[in-house]
Amino acid sequence: MPTQLNLIREDITKLTVDAIVNAANESLLGGGGVDGAIHRAAGPLLLEECRTLKGCLTGQAKITKGYQLPAKYVIHTVGPIWSGGQQHEADLLASCYRQSLMLALEYQVKTLAFPAISCGAYGYPIPAATRIAINTTAVFTEAHPGIETVYFVAFGKDIEQVYQMVLAEWLGSKMSH
Ligand code: APR
Repeated sequence: MPTQLNLIREDITKLTVDAIVNAANESLLGGGGVDGAIHRAAGPLLLEECRTLKGCLTGQAKITKGYQLPAKYVIHTVGPIWSGGQQHEADLLASCYRQSLMLALEYQVKTLAFPAISCGAYGYPIPAATRIAINTTAVFTEAHPGIETVYFVAFGKDIEQVYQMVLAEWLGSKMSH
């Protein structure tokens, strides 16, 4: 059964999925954007568990419980800060998706939701980032079945339009071969 890749426009903290992915920073001690929203919705016990993780390197991912979130787990990953594209940002962003997906498989996660990692404060150009998100996830889930559905969460019209375009592109290319 191939993994379904879906686009939804929703606040990720509201999703009743097995795991949501957090676009964190290397301290794992919270922040603004989706990181702030997740910590606010999960409650203080999330930060308490995050403190025990001793941070996370860019491109890596670590998992915690979801606490007061509807999601069972939070997979914290640290995206690259965009600095022009010559600092391996693309590889690091792809690694965020791969590492998160590997943890999801390890924890028998069947439904998973990603925010647009690095597309906010970290300034990654949205079209390039969404192509990496979709292509990395598609290649990984085809090679490693087990996750039923991956949701790409677009928060705000700007992201949704780009995701729709990139998903259509990807589906188009899939149909053509
Ligand atoms: N649900 C889904 N997506 C959201 C939500 C939400 N509640 N809130 C924000 N987003 C979207 C943003 O619109 C953006 O498209 O998540 C995407 C990622 O933006 P950021 O949260 O700014 O994350 P990022 O660009 O990876 O920067 C990470 O920001 O919050 C700090 O601690 C975090 O230092 C880290 C940095």
